[in-house]
Amino acid sequence: MLADEVVDCHVLVIGSGGAGVRAAIEASQYGDVVLISKIIVGKGGCTTMAEGGFNAVLREQDSCGIHYEDTLKGGSFLNDPELANILTKEAPLRMGDLVKWGAIFDFTDNDEIAQRPFGGQRFPRTCYAGDRTGHEMMMTLIDRLRYLTETQHKKGLTLLQEYTVIDLLTENGRVIGAMALDEKGRLIAITADATILATGGGTKVYDISTNSSSGTGDGYAIGYRAGAELIDMEMVQFHPTGAVYPYDARGRLITEAVRGEGGVLKNINGERFMQKYDPDRMELSTRDVVARAIATEILEGRGTPNGGVYLDVTHLSREQIETRLPMMLEQYLAFGVDIRTTPMEVAPTAHHIMGGLRITPECRTTLPGLFACGEVSGGVHGANRLGGNALAETQVFGRRAGAAAGKEPVRKKKIDDTQVQRQRDRLDRFRNGSKNPARIRSMLQQAMWDGAGIFRDATGLNTALAAAHVLADKPIRAETHRNLAECCTIENMCLTASLICRSALIREESRGAHVRKDIRQTWDAEHSPFGHTFISKTRQGIEQKGDAP
Ligand code: FUM
Repeated sequence: MLADEVVDCHVLVIGSGGAGVRAAIEASQYGDVVLISKIIVGKGGCTTMAEGGFNAVLREQDSCGIHYEDTLKGGSFLNDPELANILTKEAPLRMGDLVKWGAIFDFTDNDEIAQRPFGGQRFPRTCYAGDRTGHEMMMTLIDRLRYLTETQHKKGLTLLQEYTVIDLLTENGRVIGAMALDEKGRLIAITADATILATGGGTKVYDISTNSSSGTGDGYAIGYRAGAELIDMEMVQFHPTGAVYPYDARGRLITEAVRGEGGVLKNINGERFMQKYDPDRMELSTRDVVARAIATEILEGRGTPNGGVYLDVTHLSREQIETRLPMMLEQYLAFGVDIRTTPMEVAPTAHHIMGGLRITPECRTTLPGLFACGEVSGGVHGANRLGGNALAETQVFGRRAGAAAGKEPVRKKKIDDTQVQRQRDRLDRFRNGSKNPARIRSMLQQAMWDGAGIFRDATGLNTALAAAHVLADKPIRAETHRNLAECCTIENMCLTASLICRSALIREESRGAHVRKDIRQTWDAEHSPFGHTFISKTRQGIEQKGDAP
């Protein structure tokens, strides 16, 4: 046996954000579950950090049909319509689960769940818990998972925390689990009848990003290496409003809820510039439009001295700021800025990857035995995600993945020693390397920011792609056991970056978050001749409209 330890289970869930924990809750009804996480569950990750809210149709005046249309229009009609339909129909049910399990959302005076407006939506349908919605969700989900596994299902739940999955295990093309490193650098093989990737996103491949340190694209890279197909990897969302200073807080999310509550954007001349870019929706236009508008103001010299634009809430009442945006207020007070009296300064920051592993409505990927849900999967959001649809996605598709994986039959699985040996060789390579991984990471992040940002062209994308390939080949060195995991992560980041650049080169049009300055185009998004880009180890290309997947 080449692994230091072998663990067997019915369902392996990789990732402990909203989608992973929701999947584990569901799967635990069917058999024993191993939930494996790079971090201490609930103590980091993008869901915990999510601020603004969860989109769900809850009022009679609203409808799932309108939410669906908003989602498709916001996504520049690149969304998989079936997945978008499922999202909008099931979001209210999954919101109901959270409330039933004890999540405390904000309520109106009429005792209804409060909803606020978010960009690109014709109805205020974003439910929230102040500006710490993700944290409230995660605490509820973790409580529920523990309660169920301890008192009801009794099927067994193993939490492997601070373990890093480094690759999937396959047998005759079927995924049968994964290999992971524990904190002592031991190689653990986990076999499973079904494996769920719920590893979140990867915008840490950019210099400026809202993602927590775990947003390194591991799931995209791990899935790709195992042979899964990914779609629309070029679709990277730049959130319009990230902090500009202090330096250490660069890119930190300034929630869209600030604009939902009435915050306005102004340039250095005091002009509400959204008037020029989307006079109807103004600050509540979709994120791709607002991010481009801000970037244009800055590029054309109308930015602030710190390189941003102003986001102003000083006209709102102190009470509204203190009760609806308490975290924003607290965070800026810590920076020495009182947002009740002084405008914030903001600029776009890499936030979310809309592309990812291709999935069916049951969250099956193109590889048997492998499921994916949440940000690591592609198709739900098309070319641009609406704010508030990500938290909803985690719950809707986390539940679906958990149920489908749980129903997989129990199988005999045999670990292929050559796959384990390959990982041992990889780890030895890191032990014998010479280059500092932190340096490689920052060079990659800078190259991606410069070449694959909001505005793109073939020259910049090819430069970023070449950098990703060169950096991937550097002999990175692991000094400690923890560095071994870090080295695997750097490899994943380089691969994710290259998938983004390659897909961005394939899509020769501007659509949603993907803007090609070097392509002249005669169509609008609705009439685009193109469908998804797709990329795997064996094929890559772009669907023409009407192609079957
Ligand atoms: O702006 C925000 O609060 C982010 C929300 C989201 O990405 O859904």
